[in-house]
Amino acid sequence: MKITDGVYWVGVNDTQTKLFEALWSLSRGVSYNSYLVLGSEKNALIDTVNEDFSEEYIRGLRRLIDLEDLDYLVLNHVEPDHAGSLSKVLSVAAKASVVGTANGIKFVRKYHRVLFNDIVVKNGATIDLGGKTLRFIDTPCIHWPETMCTYLAEDGIMFSGDLFGSFGAIGDQIFDDRFDEVFKNEAKRYFAAVLSPYAASVNRAIKKFDTSDMPIRVIAPAHGLIYKENPSIIKNLYAELSSGRFEEKVVIVYGSMYGNTETLAEAVAQGVRDRGVRGVIFNITQSEPSEVLSEIWQAPAVAVGSPIYDSFIFPPVTNLLELIKLKRIKQRVFGLFGNYTWSAAAFKQLQRSIQGLGSEIVGTFVKAQGSPVPSNIQEAEDLGNILADAAIQKVKETSGSTP
Ligand code: FEO
Repeated sequence: MKITDGVYWVGVNDTQTKLFEALWSLSRGVSYNSYLVLGSEKNALIDTVNEDFSEEYIRGLRRLIDLEDLDYLVLNHVEPDHAGSLSKVLSVAAKASVVGTANGIKFVRKYHRVLFNDIVVKNGATIDLGGKTLRFIDTPCIHWPETMCTYLAEDGIMFSGDLFGSFGAIGDQIFDDRFDEVFKNEAKRYFAAVLSPYAASVNRAIKKFDTSDMPIRVIAPAHGLIYKENPSIIKNLYAELSSGRFEEKVVIVYGSMYGNTETLAEAVAQGVRDRGVRGVIFNITQSEPSEVLSEIWQAPAVAVGSPIYDSFIFPPVTNLLELIKLKRIKQRVFGLFGNYTWSAAAFKQLQRSIQGLGSEIVGTFVKAQGSPVPSNIQEAEDLGNILADAAIQKVKETSGSTP
């Protein structure tokens, strides 16, 4: 697929894999984007694809180039969804040099035990392909520590790796003229699942682009659509997601075996709505974790509810708290509620977990024994009021902030 003269998308669509990183639902698939840049003198491949698709990938490449003539294989990011086909490409492209950051070359050699020439590039280094100049931009920790972006100066194309990526296969309609709410949500879900712990690095990279002499006319990420018509759509979305600003909402997430914790969750949501604030409610056992994280990412206030199960917190709730910790989701306000039959001792565990997240707990911990009674419902609605007020306050405090 041609992007502009001498620049082609040569990636693949994956609609087979169920879980990205064996963790996150790929209900709409994902694309592994790779690009071929043909200069008048030399040529370069930018990233490869997941090894599972290497045959299809190499077949596609052969329609555009004799791989034996490939000069450079540029690695913006060496995670195997992008560098996985390196050995297979090099088995035919014997004269190609692999281009990457020092860490990139170091890491990729741990995955691909084959001999190859490498070129280590630093920030601002260039390679002239003949009328096509590749400039390498240091953007570390956009997922892994070795990451960089590659800018094609003559065409204003930023090959951005995971930065500006999204879930969702793109088929053969690769451009952003089809960007809609579904793709937007897939980009937000991708950010929450993959890039949220690196939000500060994302924010730094975007600022670096904004203050540089690199006008960006096209954003070509390693996953998802290519933004040719309106690159600011994805740049602005990522700038917002990495800004540390909140939306005025409360996420209510709970586990429930027999509907009693769910009754409390609905009462908390009612209390949130009564304050005119949006409440987003998830039953954790029926929800995709990345959807929940995506909502929590921009939520200043979160209510977590759990029944007690075998004297412990309900396992799916424990798992969610681990993911919140892993994704470094901090500085939120939490409210707690739950249901028990004979001992409420395990709720201390829930409190400790939340305190360990670097967030504050507000309001009364609403604990119902068996079926919630009217006073429990009232306490849950009050908790919803408190969380909604806290959300309004936090939005005010953080508007304009950066992570
Ligand atoms: Fe798409 Fe971090 O790899």
